[in-house]
Amino acid sequence: MTQEKLNELLRDMSLEEKVGQMIQLPAEVLTGGGLVTGPTGTTQLTDEQVGMAGSVLGIKGAEKIRKLQKQQMAKQPHHIPLLFMLDVINGFETIFPIPLALGCTFSPKMAEEACSAAAAEAAADGLHVTFSPMLDLVRDARWGRVMESPGEDPYLNSEMARAMVRGYQGDLRSKDKVAACLKHFAGYGAPEGGRDYDNVELSERTILEDYLPAYEAAVKEGCRLAMTSFNTLNRVPSSGNKWLLRKILREKMGFEGVVISDYSAVEEMVPHGIAADVREAAKLAVEAGVDIDMVSNAYAGHLAELVRSGEVPEKLVDEAVLRILTLKNDLGLFEDPFRAVDPAETEKVLLRADFRQKARETAAASFVLLKNEGILPLGKKLVAWIGPYVDNREIYGAWSFPERPEETVTIKQGVEAKGLPGMSFARGSYVMDKGRATKFGRIPNPSDEQADAWMEEALKLAASSDRVVMCLGEHKDLTGEAGSRTSLGISKGQMELLRKVRQVNPNIVTVLFCGRPLAVKEIAELSKALLVVWMPGTEGGNAIADVLFGDRVPQGKLSMTFPRSLGQVPVYYNHFATGRPNPPHEIHLFRNGYMDEVNAPLYPFGFGLSYTEFAYSEVKLDRRQMAPGERITASVTVTNAGDVSGVETVQLYLRDPSASVVRPVRSLKGFQKVSLAPGESREVSFSIEEPMLRFYDIEMNYVSEPGRFEVYIGGSSDTENGAEFVLV
Ligand code: BGC
Repeated sequence: MTQEKLNELLRDMSLEEKVGQMIQLPAEVLTGGGLVTGPTGTTQLTDEQVGMAGSVLGIKGAEKIRKLQKQQMAKQPHHIPLLFMLDVINGFETIFPIPLALGCTFSPKMAEEACSAAAAEAAADGLHVTFSPMLDLVRDARWGRVMESPGEDPYLNSEMARAMVRGYQGDLRSKDKVAACLKHFAGYGAPEGGRDYDNVELSERTILEDYLPAYEAAVKEGCRLAMTSFNTLNRVPSSGNKWLLRKILREKMGFEGVVISDYSAVEEMVPHGIAADVREAAKLAVEAGVDIDMVSNAYAGHLAELVRSGEVPEKLVDEAVLRILTLKNDLGLFEDPFRAVDPAETEKVLLRADFRQKARETAAASFVLLKNEGILPLGKKLVAWIGPYVDNREIYGAWSFPERPEETVTIKQGVEAKGLPGMSFARGSYVMDKGRATKFGRIPNPSDEQADAWMEEALKLAASSDRVVMCLGEHKDLTGEAGSRTSLGISKGQMELLRKVRQVNPNIVTVLFCGRPLAVKEIAELSKALLVVWMPGTEGGNAIADVLFGDRVPQGKLSMTFPRSLGQVPVYYNHFATGRPNPPHEIHLFRNGYMDEVNAPLYPFGFGLSYTEFAYSEVKLDRRQMAPGERITASVTVTNAGDVSGVETVQLYLRDPSASVVRPVRSLKGFQKVSLAPGESREVSFSIEEPMLRFYDIEMNYVSEPGRFEVYIGGSSDTENGAEFVLV
C-alpha cells in the first residue's frame, strides 16, 4: 500500500476503529487460553472492541493464527489484519541458549544467526512480531530477568542489540523475518534490591551513558518497535514518561516505530500513584507516546471518550495509528494477511537440521570454563555422570515455549551419542528441595526412601569411576520474569550430593545450569573443573558432551560478573573508583569495601578459560599522542601457548583517569575473536579514536576531555596488560 493509501485508510476509520488499533488483546480473549506471561482474566472489552483490536499477544500455531486472522478480519470494518506478537526470546521451536549466554559468546555473528533462525521459525508459524531483544543493562544477579539480557556492559550489549535486530528483521518484507521490539525502555534492569518491577533510581548521567546505548543501537539498526518498562525513572513510570518516550526515544534517538506498553503497564500507573484512575492513566500514556496498550483496559475503556471530550487531541491517536498501520504495511500484511504461511509447510521449517546445528555450536560457544585443574577434557576414562541435570530436558531458559520439549537433547543422550565405553548415570537428587516452590508452584519430590536410594546409587558410581561429572544447577523457573531471588545458590540437596560425592571421589567436574551468575565459591572449591552452561536449549546435551570430551574447546567469556557471595551484589567490572580504593584482593581498614570480604569478584566480566593457554605480548601503541580526528593503533600479539587449537576473545578496555566527572575504572571498547592453532601467533589491533573517549561531562555535554588515558588489552576485564596515551 502506498503512503497515500495508508493516509486515506486512516481518514476513513472511525474513532473507535482507530482506538481499536491501539489495543492489544491477551490470547485468552480470542482462544480462552494461550501462553500466559502476566496476570490473566482482567481484560474487560465489548465484543465490538475485540472485533476491532489491532493486535494480539501470546498465540502460537500456524493453523490457529490463520483461522483467527480470518475471523478477526471479517469483523474489522476495514478488514485490517491483526498483528500476532509473542515473546520469542531464546529461539522459537529450536531453543537456543538464553540471551545472557549469547552475550558470553562475544559473537554478534552467532547472535544474529540465532535470531535469524528464531525469526524463520516464528514467521513460519504465523507470527509477525517478537518481543525481543531485551537490552536492559544488568548488574544485580538477584533479578531473575538478567537471563534475558546480553549482560552488564553497554558496548557488548550494543553490539548484540544490532546483531539481534538484524537477525530478526533483516528485510522485513521477507517471509522468514519478524519485526523486533526492543525492551524495556528504560532502565528496567536496575530494580532496587533486585526485586522484579521495583523502583529504579539512576542518575540522568548513568541512564544516558550506561543504560541507553544498547537500546539506541537497536533503534539505529532499524528496530521497528519499542516496549515501555514497568519501572519508574525519576519517579515517573515509563508508560507515562514524556521525557523518556518523546524526548529521548523519538527526538534524540530518532525512533520512528511503534511504542507498545509492557503488559498492563498503562493501568498500573494507578497503583504506582501517578494517575488517579485508569482514565487518567490512558491520558498520560497517549500523551507520553504509547501507541499500543498491551492488555490493560485503559485505551479500550477511555481513549475514545478522552478524544471526544477534547482532553486528548485526535492528532495523537492518528499519529499512533499511522505508525501501527505502517508496520502492518511494511510486513506486507495488506497484500497478504497470512504472509504466505502454509500450515502444511510450517513443520518443515521448525527444528530444521541446520537450526539445530547452529543451536549446538552456539550453545558450546556460550559455555564458560571458570576453573580447570587439568581434568578437562575428559579423555578415555570411566565417568560417572551424577545429578538432577543428567537426564533432564528442562535445560531451556524461561520464556521458551517449545511445543515439542521431547526434542531437547539431555546430557545423557549427548554422552551416549558419543558411543564411548565406561559411562554411567545417576540422578542423585532433585533440582528443588522438598517443600520448595518455583514461581509456578511446587515440584513433586521423592519419598525419603527414594531420595536415600538415589544418593546411595550416586555414591556407588562415583566411588567406582575415574571421574565424576556433577550436573547441577538452579531450576529454570527460578529465573526470568518474577524470578528474583534472595539467595544465589543451588538447592541444599544438590550441595549435599556434591559434598558427599567429593568424599568418595575428588576428581569432580561440575557442569552448572543457571540463568544468572550464582555464588559458586564452595562449588568451585569442591570441583577440579567448573563449566557454566547456562540454559543451553534444544541441543544442550550434545553441546555439553562436545565440550567435555574436547570435540569443541570452550571459548565463552563472562558477560556478567560472578560474585564471591550474595553480599557483594551488585558487583560489576565497570564501577567507579572511590577516594579510598582498596586493592581488589585486599582488605584494609578505612578503605572502600567490606571487613569480611575482598572487593574482587570470584570471576570477573570477560573471564573464561580454554583447554589451551593464550599468551599476550605487551600492548604496543603506534603513537603516544593524538588529537581529535586522528587515531592510535593499539596492538598485541596473542600466542596459543598450549597444544590444542582454541579461540580467544581479545578485549580492549580504556580508562580516563582524570576527567570533569569520575569515569569507570575500565570500559570495554572493542573485542575480537581469534582462532589459533597450537604455537600460532597473531597480531590483533584496535583503532582508538577520539569519539570512543566521549562521555557526559560536568555540563552534560557529550565530549572528550584532553589528558592522559589508559589502554588495556587482554583476555579478561582484570587484565593488567596496559599502556598510556595522551589526547591533546
Ligand atoms: C514482560 C515483557 C513481555 C510481555 C509480553 C511482560 O510481563 O515484562 O517482557 O514481553 O509480558 O509477554
